[in-house]
Amino acid sequence: MRRAISLTVLSTLAGLAQADNTNPFDCSNFLTFNGNQAQALAQLNASKETLSWNWFNCLNQPAANGLDRVWETLKPSDQVYLANGANPGAYTLAPPPQAVTQAAAGIPGMNTQRAFHNLNAILQVDGLPLEMDGKTVPAAQRGKPVRFQLLMSESTFDYIVQKGVYNTNGQSALTANLDFPATSWEAKAGWLWIGTDTTYQKQLEDDGYYIAQAYYQNDDGSYTVGYAALSALHVINKLVPQWVWTTFENVNNSKYTVTNAIPPKPMTNSTGPTAEAVPVNAQFQQWYGNLSRYELIGTQIDSNPKLLANSQLESAFQSQSSCSACHGTAAYSKDDGYFNFTLSGQDGKDGIVYPTAPLPETAFKGYNKLDYVWSLKRAQWQRP
Ligand code: HEC
Repeated sequence: MRRAISLTVLSTLAGLAQADNTNPFDCSNFLTFNGNQAQALAQLNASKETLSWNWFNCLNQPAANGLDRVWETLKPSDQVYLANGANPGAYTLAPPPQAVTQAAAGIPGMNTQRAFHNLNAILQVDGLPLEMDGKTVPAAQRGKPVRFQLLMSESTFDYIVQKGVYNTNGQSALTANLDFPATSWEAKAGWLWIGTDTTYQKQLEDDGYYIAQAYYQNDDGSYTVGYAALSALHVINKLVPQWVWTTFENVNNSKYTVTNAIPPKPMTNSTGPTAEAVPVNAQFQQWYGNLSRYELIGTQIDSNPKLLANSQLESAFQSQSSCSACHGTAAYSKDDGYFNFTLSGQDGKDGIVYPTAPLPETAFKGYNKLDYVWSLKRAQWQRP
């Protein structure tokens, strides 16, 4: 009898251990929810954090070219909202500028067949940069900004082209709200600049950062080319009409980035990981060694949780950061331009105030809503 019980216990334990080491999630067509939106919705309702991690893992699988990760093959916004407002054409990725590939040829380890990320953005939504600093940051990078980029999936891109809203002309001609298809995805990635400092690169690798090839353009038109370490990734999709909001970051970010206090303090996340994310992080970090130093901060649906931020992307305004509430104000008016989501001064409030609950529909009189897609703000007027 004793023996029988212990065998049952043993086989139960074995079953658990096995369940812990296999993840049945199917990455093959995850960007279209494997053609089964109902199943994806059921997974979302069962554990939105588990589904978020599965998406994150699928996005980090090798891409078709065997060199990049899947998410690196999404179309960057600078190839969608062109400077001259022209139709961006096909979804296929454009090659980097020739000056970038030429410079890359002289940098050890660079592969011109791999992606080169254009890290052109440094000012966050509040108009401020996040500074890299701390004793683990080499002198050459101290005080320099964290860089970021926006990316979109083919569904998102196709809809933008179909509606002609890749330029401001198209947005001002809108007569109805935008409504992206359910298979739309977007991402925003934050990066620590490494340049060509191999010692620093090794240190960041040891701290579990994913290293990629990148560049940015300087004011004089020249390009700086080097390596960069992925510190943050926002991933959103429209599985539900109000979109699903997920955000991941490297657990070591506070060693490399600082607040704008005087003197600066290590930058930490004040919104998570949420209680629901903590056990899911532990499970997936154990499953996927190459992602083991990344954590889900949380998944927000319909203002739940109320606040969600990434320490690298909503750095100074984490206490005001609701992904869905702020993106819910994405709207354009022919007369007044983009909706101003900075509520400071209103209701007698001081300082910067961002919406942390959906604004009433009456606030958008005269505006067409852009279906949460604030990247549309990057569109330019068409120029000959
Ligand atoms: C206070 C407003 C605000 C908050 C809060 C906010 N965002 Fe954004 N977000 C923006 C704006 C504005 C842009 C466009 C930025 C640019 O062009 O550089 C943007 C861009 C993005 C993009 C690129 C695609 C797109 O829709 O434009 C993603 C993805 C994104 N944010 C996700 C998130 C997530 C996830 C959160 C919460 C963890 C969040 N955002 C919090 C305002 C906000």
